[in-house]
Amino acid sequence: MKPETSGRKVVIEQHKKFSESALWRFQREYFDQEGINAWVNQVPFYITSNPFIAKCYARLVLSFIRDWTAKHPEAKQHPFYIMELGTGSGRFSYYVIKTLEELMKDLEIKDIKICYIMSDFTKNNIKYWETHPTLKKYVDEGVIDFALYDMESERPITLLKKNVRLGPEVLVNPLTVFANYIFDTVSHDSFAVHEGKLYELLLSLSTDEQNMKGNRPVDMEQIAVDYTVKEAKANYYNDPHLDSILDLYKKSLHDTSFLFPAGSFHAIKFLKKLTNNKLFVISTDKGYGSLESLDHLGHPSISWHGSFSMMVNFHAIAEYFKNSGGDAFLQTPRKGIRTSVFASGFKFNELPETAHAIKEHVERFSPSDYFTLHRRISDSFNECNLETIAAHMELAGWDPHIYLKLTNRVTALIAEENDTETIGFMADNMYRMAENYYYMPKSECILFEIGVFFHAAKRYKDAHEYYQKALPFVGEQFGLFYNMALCLNHLERPSEALEYFKKALVLDPESKETQDWIAHIEKAPSEKEG
Ligand SMILES: C[S@@+](CC[C@H](N)C(=O)[O-])C[C@H]1O[C@@H](n2cnc3c(N)ncnc32)[C@H](O)[C@@H]1O
Repeated sequence: MKPETSGRKVVIEQHKKFSESALWRFQREYFDQEGINAWVNQVPFYITSNPFIAKCYARLVLSFIRDWTAKHPEAKQHPFYIMELGTGSGRFSYYVIKTLEELMKDLEIKDIKICYIMSDFTKNNIKYWETHPTLKKYVDEGVIDFALYDMESERPITLLKKNVRLGPEVLVNPLTVFANYIFDTVSHDSFAVHEGKLYELLLSLSTDEQNMKGNRPVDMEQIAVDYTVKEAKANYYNDPHLDSILDLYKKSLHDTSFLFPAGSFHAIKFLKKLTNNKLFVISTDKGYGSLESLDHLGHPSISWHGSFSMMVNFHAIAEYFKNSGGDAFLQTPRKGIRTSVFASGFKFNELPETAHAIKEHVERFSPSDYFTLHRRISDSFNECNLETIAAHMELAGWDPHIYLKLTNRVTALIAEENDTETIGFMADNMYRMAENYYYMPKSECILFEIGVFFHAAKRYKDAHEYYQKALPFVGEQFGLFYNMALCLNHLERPSEALEYFKKALVLDPESKETQDWIAHIEKAPSEKEG
């Protein structure tokens, strides 16, 4: 649907090849300017940044490494690099690396070295990761490194901490590539098929004059997008692998428009060159996976959410890998996102553990299924009892993002249900949720909420400990000091309790309860304290 306009229209561009449109510049400028703030209530990211999806990826990677080293024992002498493209906030990276570390510990794998490369095209995201307290340990250990990489360019990629340039001498083992919500973000071309002919769709953009500032639209959502059609030249890309996919579409599709992930292909081809053609790629995004699903579509639509995104043509990516001697696994269709796995330089049937992991974690209960279930349950948290909530938390890998939505419900149920078994089970796993805390601006602090949980469960020592841990993140707040004071009072440490009630009173001098507590403690004899 075209946005409504009120003023004079400005033509931003006319009849542009899709992948050369100014849209992609606007997209990059958006992410560059926003940095980490892009994820504060603008660009959706939970679906690809939760502990469940991270566990799936970690299991896939570990299976792959085990298969690979079983077949190539000398591979253990070189690190396995994992590169995340368009990393964004870094929350997913943290969950993957943490899970991989746990899995390798459990399985007593000591002779494999992993280096996880968090990459993005904007320095602003890298700056955020560089100072992130949760990543520090892994950066210091050399397990995480950072790289500036723009998928639309072919500039050398250098690891910023190790100061190593990526190339075939460094990437001896296949490079694992994670591409979540990024193939939908980088450039696409667009084509149409009609009566056996292939057309390219050219793009024209316009917007209200008032929506333009300094050569760019203020609000991308107010851009009107129009398409014109031009017959596509033969051998459009001058690349036999890509052109054969267009030929296939021309022959097999009837009447449709489709996207062709030009920017993603650019990156895949470049990365193949850096790794002697050996890639193991896992990608989760919204997209098409079969020829049939590409037929009878209207002109491509754009989803706006601060930035914008488009459906990924996973079918074309799969064809490309298969045509060039590799392999592809496309998950059967789900309504939302889908996970796809690609190989270059080898086939999945040569790697039994990997093939099994793909079946278990991509085809069967997948990140997409998890999200569907989670969304349904989270709509009805207020009808769930403590036992159901605890089971869901376990499925979600004790995800702080979820717990933050149901903390009030849990506190109420602890008081109502007297379900000591479930409270015990939850208490035993609170440390896992604390470990999953990945600070992002303007998000609530899970450490405080864990404190509230223990407080409600009358485990005052634990509660106080978590309140203390929350302090650096939430800052000096009335609620925090007041709760700490209550716990200290229960722990029979009245002079500390008094100190914290007084701190709380400074922040809310009107608080009657705080005044009463201070008066109460000051009046009481102090012999209890040891
Ligand atoms: C939609 S976000 C996805 C972030 C993350 N992967 C996720 O799943 O939440 C797209 C990310 O890609 C980055 N990006 C945009 N254009 C890029 C390009 N040409 N090359 C590399 N990264 C790019 C943005 O900075 C942003 O971090």
